[in-house]
Formats: sequence, structure tokens, C-alpha cells
Amino acid sequence: MQKTTTPFLPIGFSWAFAFLLLLSASSCKTTEKSAVRERTDFTKNWSFALGENAGAKVANFNDTQWRKLNLPHDWSIEGKFDEKHPASYNGGALPGGTGWYRKAFTLDAKDKDKLFYIDFDGVYTNSEVWVNGQYLGKRPNGYISFRYDLTPYLKFGPEQNVVAVKVDNSQQPNSRWYSGSGIYRNVWLVKTSPVHVDQWGTFVTTPQVSEQSASVAITTQVRNARQQAGNITLRTLVYDAQGREVAKASSEKVALKTGQANALTEVKQNLTVSNPTLWSVEQPYLYRVVTLVEQNGKVVDNYETPLGIRTFNFDAQKGFTLNGKSMKINGVCNHHDLGALGAAVNVRALERQLEIMKNMGVNGIRTSHNPPTPELLDLCDKMGFIVMDESFDMWKKEKTKFDYSHAWDEWHKRDLEDFIKRDRNHPSVFIWSIGNEIPEQWAPEGTTIAKELVNIVKSLDTTRPVTVGINEPTPNNTIYKSGALDLFGFNYHHQDFEKFPKTFPGQKFIATETVSALMTRGHYDMPADSIRRWPKRWDIPFHDGNKDLTVSAYDNVSTPWGSTHEETWKLIKKHAYLSGQYIWTGFDYLGEPTPYVWPARSSYFGIVDLAGFPKDVYYMYQSEWTNKPVLHVFPHWNWQAGQTVDVKAYYNNAEEVELFLNGKSQGVRKKQGDDLHVMWRLPFQPGTLKAVSRANGKEVLTKEIKTAGGAARIVLEADRTQIVANGKDLSFVTVKILDKDGNLVPRADNLVHFRIDGKAVLAGVDNGLQTSLESFKANHRKAFNGLCLAILQAQEEAGTVKLTATSEGLEPATIILHLK
Ligand code: GAL
Repeated sequence: MQKTTTPFLPIGFSWAFAFLLLLSASSCKTTEKSAVRERTDFTKNWSFALGENAGAKVANFNDTQWRKLNLPHDWSIEGKFDEKHPASYNGGALPGGTGWYRKAFTLDAKDKDKLFYIDFDGVYTNSEVWVNGQYLGKRPNGYISFRYDLTPYLKFGPEQNVVAVKVDNSQQPNSRWYSGSGIYRNVWLVKTSPVHVDQWGTFVTTPQVSEQSASVAITTQVRNARQQAGNITLRTLVYDAQGREVAKASSEKVALKTGQANALTEVKQNLTVSNPTLWSVEQPYLYRVVTLVEQNGKVVDNYETPLGIRTFNFDAQKGFTLNGKSMKINGVCNHHDLGALGAAVNVRALERQLEIMKNMGVNGIRTSHNPPTPELLDLCDKMGFIVMDESFDMWKKEKTKFDYSHAWDEWHKRDLEDFIKRDRNHPSVFIWSIGNEIPEQWAPEGTTIAKELVNIVKSLDTTRPVTVGINEPTPNNTIYKSGALDLFGFNYHHQDFEKFPKTFPGQKFIATETVSALMTRGHYDMPADSIRRWPKRWDIPFHDGNKDLTVSAYDNVSTPWGSTHEETWKLIKKHAYLSGQYIWTGFDYLGEPTPYVWPARSSYFGIVDLAGFPKDVYYMYQSEWTNKPVLHVFPHWNWQAGQTVDVKAYYNNAEEVELFLNGKSQGVRKKQGDDLHVMWRLPFQPGTLKAVSRANGKEVLTKEIKTAGGAARIVLEADRTQIVANGKDLSFVTVKILDKDGNLVPRADNLVHFRIDGKAVLAGVDNGLQTSLESFKANHRKAFNGLCLAILQAQEEAGTVKLTATSEGLEPATIILHLK
């Protein structure tokens, strides 16, 4: 078990010494004798069974026949696609049901005076937890993080303890997208002294920030579990990114609250950080706040909080500024699934998604439509994203039959409070969202509930604006009319953007959700410049003849409520009062296929497909949002002789692009006005298409696309060939089907088989095709439009791993990974 421990610190220690101890402790893998707080990864060696298993809550239940696994775990993603599953294709057409998890563990006899908590980052859904047969509680919300105190029911020494968790995702549909099922996020065992910093017990803000100094205000809640009388000393230290102490505060002789078990003592402290390095999306500089609780001359607890020092503002005319500089929020909405891995959280998979987004120029993430896994926010802190952190997709009025609306009355206050407390120290969180497209916006309760929720948020954090994604932005909207929102958040309605300042005078605007264009990677329907906007019926694919349910990737298909990517970006770009947007969506996700025609089972909205392969419009944004030189030319060059083909190019850092077909110029094109691409229409001839971008008459970039021959060989490309042998790390291996000359075969759909030699497992396979009913957990996958993906997961042994990919009639390929 990997543990984070903090050693005992004697009274009178030097601050520098304390820091050295803390540093060495943070890399510790085992418990130290002197440890005061331990947070142990509690994800290994669980037993799992599907079904009712009511007796499984009892400690001595016989689970020897159950499957052994490590968490995080999502049982739905292991299932078979079937349109008859009650989740329907909106939920990803995968099975739900009820599942049980059990884990046995022992505790050291010397720890019997300690407290033990179990922390769940999220369980989908309706979880109930027992320890040693004792019922601890339930949590209907599948996205919320929660804790139980195990202490009163534990055994110490050789006797075993057993935690049992029932997960009930049987009542479906309960979600408008794929939810996953199970303990799909991490679980932690937290050991503390009886006097310790409460769960999410610090709140760190920066009331005043200038180039010269930042004031840091820290409120700490200390829990007194056993009504101990007496005083504590609370010390707070701030370290910069290099580990240097930059500020400290000490509150002596603070009387502990007593009178009831678990009484909380609040301590407020103020510090100053001189010459602070500010947190920004380009340089997400992080400080670390370390809280030490001392009792009777001994350090009894330590606790860490991230700190990013930044100022920001939303302005009704000028939009968003970060650290005094104007910038657009160029964000994307994402759901929580990780494609072939399902909902099961994996930090590297999250990081890869964010890397792909960052590389496109994205600087904002909306956690649509629910609390994210905590690791996502840790990554956004480190990588520099402006997060719109969202709590609910519905309030009291249901959207799907068995959704959270049924738990609303009993749970919403607790869930919202816990969500804010958990996330309010993340510098990447800039906006709280109390809901998405809430049906109450058309009813009087829209006003009352909005006011109630905003009050809850403000009681815990006044440093960030609160918004809602409203999908009918009119002055009569009851949520808007509540007057409770700081930011006017609206979904879609790009046709109305220019009217907004008049219709909603004085409001600060953020486009909480935009676009909802549709695309299948590598599929093109012409003409490229005619926009299809969802004809007549909801179940009709968009271009005639697309019986295979593919949708054109020219950025020429959108939902009727949405727009093409270019349409919305042109408007957001033009108007300073629009602070930015969160595009629906960065990645394709499981569920909500549009068109709603079986076997479509995942969404078409992503700028990047489910496997992580960019669609063409990715490069439109890259050309606009980054300074990287871009020249992206598409489509592929395998068409019928004589067919008229539209060739589009996204480019930047140049004035013009010239296109050549087999050496013959097809003309020079320049973007005019607010154009975001250039286009040529030409009769197809096999051969070489070459584009050259130029600035001041000088070549900037060239791109060539050749007509591919038949599929001849496989090529494997790993995103990382060296990974950590920690049982979790991943290598994403792209599989390309090439002709004999090395050209990607644009419509290749060869079935590829995978074999692994060495200590890694195949965690998932995918190809990004929205209608594929192949299993994500198989050891083979058909390519789609020339590509597929194999995700390798390290086991816990260092060494080399060989992945071999074979396919009938093709030259096979191997790749070696190094596990360290
Ligand atoms: C929005 C909604 C999203 C998603 C999207 C699809 O209205 O907020 O959750 O359903 O439509 O276009």
C-alpha cells in the first residue's frame, strides 16, 4: 500500500528541519513509526460480485469465490453493448445492475488510539457502506466524495476488519450520458490523531495580490474527536515551488472546543508572501501550504493545501482578465468517462486528455455536469486550466426517470456543501456552476432554488462567481430573474449573442456551452461549405446515404440548437463582452449518440474522438489559439477518378496557402475578413496533393497527402515508451495501417490482434468509431479509417514489455515499452 506519511516533529524544531522532514515524508512508501497522519491508497485487493448478495454486509460472509480486483473499477465498461439495456443508447447501451465490493484488512495494535476514516472519491451510484457488519451510511449521488469514520467499529492486532460496499445502479435510466457503475474513483484510508485537521478543513484565499506581495488568509478547522481539553498550537508554513519556505504563521495556546465529540475549533491566520509568482494558464505556479497541529509539545497532525496566487475579474464590457490581463476562456466541456477505460479513474488517462487539449490551445475545462474526480482538479492546477466546476444536471425536476432529482430534497444541501468545501482550494477553479439546463428555469421554483443554492455557495466561498448553464436566455427565465447569479451563463443561442448586452444590461457573460457540432473522424461529405443542421427528424442521419451513421468531419454538420465550430468562435472572438466559451465537447464520450439511431452508442460532439485521435477541426482551434505554426490540409486523397473534391486548410503565421496537385498549382488562397480556413474545389486525380503556406513570400510550412495504395503494414506509436511500474501507469499506443510506401490507408478497417509479452495488461482498445459494438476489453480491434488504439497498463514489476500487433495479410509490428 502506498502511504503518504508525516513524521513526528519535536517541539522547538527549526522550520528548515521541519521542511526537510516533510519533503522526505512525501516520497515515503511505507509507514513510519513516528507518522502522525497517513493517507493510504486503499484500492488494492478488493473482492467483487455482481448481483444482490444481501448477506455480504456481514463481516464473516464467504467471498472466496468472488472476483479479485483493484479499484478504481467500472463494471459497465466490461459489458456487452445492447440497445435493450435499460440505460439505453443515451447511457452508452451498457449494463447497469447492482454490485458488491468487499475488502479485508488488519490494523496495527499500536494504532488503537488513532482514528481511521475511509474516503471515497466517488461511487456510482446509491452506495451503502458497512464495516464489520456495522452500517455506516448511504450516498445516492454518484459523483460526490464522502467519508465515513470507521474508528468505533475497528479491531486491532491480528483480527481482520471487513469493509463492504453495495453499489446500486439498477434503476435506469438515471443519466443522460454514460455513467459507469461501481467504485470507479479512488478510495483512501486516513489515519489521524484524535485532534486533527478536519476533512477539507482548510480554506486558503488571497484577499490582496500585487506584484510586491500577496496576503494569504487561512481558516483551519481542527476536529477534537474525543473531547480532549487543552490547547493546541497551529502552525502554517507556505513553501514555493522550489520547496523554499516563503511565509509562516503560528497561533499559540488555542483552546480546543469541547462539550461534544468532534467539536470543531476554528483558527484564522494571515500571512504575506512577498514578490509572489502568479498562477496563470501559461505558468501555473503552485505554492504549498502546510498546516501543523501541535498538542502538548508534539506535532499531532499535518495537512497540505495547494495554493495558487492569482487575481481575476469578469467585466460586463471587457470580459475576463487574469492577473490584470485580458484573455478569452477557450474552454471545452467534458464528461467524466475515459473512453475505453470507462468511468474508472486513471490519472495518466486524465493527464493525456488534458495534454491533448492543451496542445490544441484549450485553457478551460467545464466539469459537465457534476463534481469531477479530485485528480482532475489537481492536474488542472498543475497544467493551467480555468475550471468551471459544476454540481448538478438537474434539481428537483427530473430529466431521466431515476435520476438524482429523487434524492434532491434530502441530499442537495449536503452534496453542494461538500462539493464546495472539497474544491475551493484549487487555484484552477474559477467559476462555480450550480446547474446545467435546469428545468426549473421555466417554473417559479427556478428563482427560489437558485437563491438557496447561491446562498449555500456564498456561505462557503465568496471568491468565485456563481453561474448556471441556462438554455433559454430570456429576461423571463426564472433562474436569471432570481438576480442571484454573478455570471450570466448561457448554453448555445449564438444567433442572440449580439443582442445580449441590450437584452441583459450590465450582465457579465460566459458561454457555458456552445457548438454541439457533429463529426466522425476521417469521414467527409461534400460540399464542405454547405452546412447541415439536423433535418426534420431526430433519428435521421445528416447526409443522405450515410447508412453507417458516420457524420462529415468538414465542420459542416451541427445540431439545430448549436452551430458549426467556426460560427460560434467567430462571434466569441469578435465581442470583448463575451468572456469565453466552453465548447460541447473536447472529447467524444460514451452515450448520447446523435443521431439517435442504433448502433450509435457514443457521442459525435468531440473535437477529438473517443480514442483520443483529433478530428480536423482540432487544427482550426490550434491555428487560432496557439502560436504553433499550423498548416492542416484535408481530406485524405483517395477518391473516385474525376470526382469533385473539396480541400480545406487551416493555417496560421502565414498570409496565404498555395495548393498543388501532382505539381500543378490549384491556386493561392488567403483568408479574408474573419475567415478561419481556405478551400479549393477540384476534380480528383490520384497522386500527390501539396500545400505550401507563405509569409512575405517565404515558405512557412508544407504538407503533402498522397493517394494511398492497399493496406500493407502496421505501425505502432506509443505516446510514452517508458512508464512507471506502479500498477496504474499507461502507455497509449496508436496503431496505424499503412500502404507499402508508408501512407495512411484512409478507410482501412483491418482487424488487429494484440499480444503482450511482459508485465503489462491490455487495459482497453478502441478506434473512435461511434457505432462499433466491439468490446473495449478485447485483445483485438478493427481499425477505423486507418487507426486504432491499444492502452497498456503497467503491472508492478520493472522490466521490458513487448506489444505485438498482427493482422491478416499485413506486415506485423512490435514496440518495446520500458517499465521502471
Ligand atoms: C446540451 C446539454 C448537454 C448535451 C448537449 C448535446 O443541451 O447541456 O448535456 O446534452 O446539449 O448537444
